[in-house]
Amino acid sequence: MVLRIVMLMVYYIALGTGKDIYTFPRIVGGSLANSGEFPYMVSLQVNGNHKCGGTIINNNTVLTAAHCIMDNITVHAGVNDLNEKGKKFSVASATRHPKYDSFYYDVGLLKIDGFFTFGSKIRPIVLEDKHVDPDVPCISCGWGQLNFTSETSLLLRYVELKTISNEVCHIMYTPVDILIGLQHMCSLAKIDHGVCLGDSGGPLINLEEKQIGIVSFVRPCAVGFPDAYTRISHFLPWINENI
Ligand SMILES: *[C@@H]1O[C@H](CO)[C@@H](O)[C@H](O)[C@H]1NC(C)=O
Ligand SMILES: *[C@@H]1O[C@H](CO)[C@@H](O)[C@H](O)[C@H]1NC(C)=O
Ligand SMILES: *[C@@H]1O[C@H](CO)[C@@H](O)[C@H](O)[C@H]1NC(C)=O
Repeated sequence: MVLRIVMLMVYYIALGTGKDIYTFPRIVGGSLANSGEFPYMVSLQVNGNHKCGGTIINNNTVLTAAHCIMDNITVHAGVNDLNEKGKKFSVASATRHPKYDSFYYDVGLLKIDGFFTFGSKIRPIVLEDKHVDPDVPCISCGWGQLNFTSETSLLLRYVELKTISNEVCHIMYTPVDILIGLQHMCSLAKIDHGVCLGDSGGPLINLEEKQIGIVSFVRPCAVGFPDAYTRISHFLPWINENI
């Protein structure tokens, strides 16, 4: 009962401040990434401001969340520190999943204007085609805020997480009317670590370094809520058809 009340209060606070609290999750805590550690990671920016993460999946395509697709995005690859130049591309075309609706079908693709040149700091990630079970160790990374009130981080960070079952995640999101289904996957970090997860649009990665999820939405981190992702294996046919 207490948990439910806390969740509902958070829900109302979130509604009052707009959807950003849900759909633009950030890394809270975690560790700094080494140079070249996540070479498939890109920063999606508007007017030079970091907005979302994304991943390189071939020499001209970036995978991200549908809610990250906005006007005037530029794609920044090959850097951990956003002060560094890296490789910058404009977007030639963007595709959101046609059924995208806030917490559902949150997947999209960006075709860059040009091609990525692969090397030690820029290369594609492999997408997981198998269903990922609960209790699997995984990692998320991003340039998000260190906490919900701070500025966006200029340095790429990562956090270690673990997948949880969709059933448990479903129960926890039911009070706020979000239906966790086959298209989602969820992770939970230790509450006392102050960990949330990576930026929206960024990856959830398993230990074989395959991408298993796209960061989609969270509840504010302090309450120990699961973080929700778009499940890669569920959307692989759509991704392959639209790549
Ligand atoms: C991009 O990848 C495609 C498919 O693998 C390949 O045919 C093409 O030559 C590549 N283009 C460049 C510029 O790397
Ligand atoms: C996008 O860029 C165009 C051209 O520079 C500008 O007119 C438009 O206002 C920009 N849109 C947004 C949302 O920033
Ligand atoms: C959030 O981060 C900012 C800047 O990094 C720091 O000054 C502030 O104390 C942090 N707030 C919390 C609640 O941790």
